[in-house]
Amino acid sequence: MKSVDYPRNLLSIDDFDDCFSDVVKWAISYKMDEEAQRDFKPLDGMAIGSIYEKPSTRTRVSFEVGITRLGGQPLTLSKNDIQLGSSESVADTAAVLSRYLDGITYRCFGHDAVSELAEHATVPVINALSDLHHPCQAAADMMTILEKRKPDQGHIAWVGDGNNVLHDLMLAAAMCGFDIFYATPEGFEPNPEVLDRARRISAENGSKILGTNDPFEAVTNAGVIYTDVFVSMGEEHLDEKSDAFQGFQVNEFLVSNARPDYMFLHCLPAHRGDEVTDEVIDSPNSAVFDQAENRMWAQMSILTLLCNEPAWATYRDLV
Ligand code: CP
Ligand code: NVA
Repeated sequence: MKSVDYPRNLLSIDDFDDCFSDVVKWAISYKMDEEAQRDFKPLDGMAIGSIYEKPSTRTRVSFEVGITRLGGQPLTLSKNDIQLGSSESVADTAAVLSRYLDGITYRCFGHDAVSELAEHATVPVINALSDLHHPCQAAADMMTILEKRKPDQGHIAWVGDGNNVLHDLMLAAAMCGFDIFYATPEGFEPNPEVLDRARRISAENGSKILGTNDPFEAVTNAGVIYTDVFVSMGEEHLDEKSDAFQGFQVNEFLVSNARPDYMFLHCLPAHRGDEVTDEVIDSPNSAVFDQAENRMWAQMSILTLLCNEPAWATYRDLV
């Protein structure tokens, strides 16, 4: 087996470029393995802190439950409860928290904040969503896709904003050899630097990344259709933003252009009636609740790798 330098932190999903498929396979095996779930406690004696500057349902609960199931102690810290940013610098907060905790997850606004925390922490840091990246989401997304589909069963189509969720989905799809075709309104394309990174990885793996401003072009013959809210957390003041997304709703007319067995994904929370209709999100093609559940299993693999790599590798070699 080729030797891998395991990453110290997870800030964007391509930090896991050398181990991503193993991280996802580990999560898929562990999800099915009741004996391991009962007996394997790789975070025993560890405390993992999670800092939230933005609201969260899935990330917060899946981290708290996943950490507990792995034998660790979760601590959830809202930004209002700690001095971070107001009367204490990110660097000092990172240094202090590293004296108590064995790992830190952080949901923030600008991506620089989580990079700075990671730079000054001496324990692993996991990005629990920044304005630029959402790597834990992408790990669960690829887990959900790989549980049910193969790359030759149609490409992944993204319909919506060129945002944090698309960024890590493109990187993750590229690492797994899936083609991805994104449709965004003009002016809402993905970040060019992230796109370049994803294109480099996809070229190595022989997959394609295509972009368009026409949702119909992107979804034609797709195997997966993915959308997200048009207005992300922190953008609520951009009143005019959703006007640009006329024609980008994922509805029955749009999805009729995909493969009949296409899978619908959404990171959630969904704004039903805006980016997706009830008919699509509640249809048999929708896997959104499996996808939400997989946040927990994928993060259990990520936490074990970053906080107890020998235990992670032992389980990987067993399955
Ligand atoms: N998908 C996701 O990150 O959901 P939350 O905002 O509820 O954590
Ligand atoms: N793009 C969304 C994802 C929420 C999980 C946001 O950043 O608000």
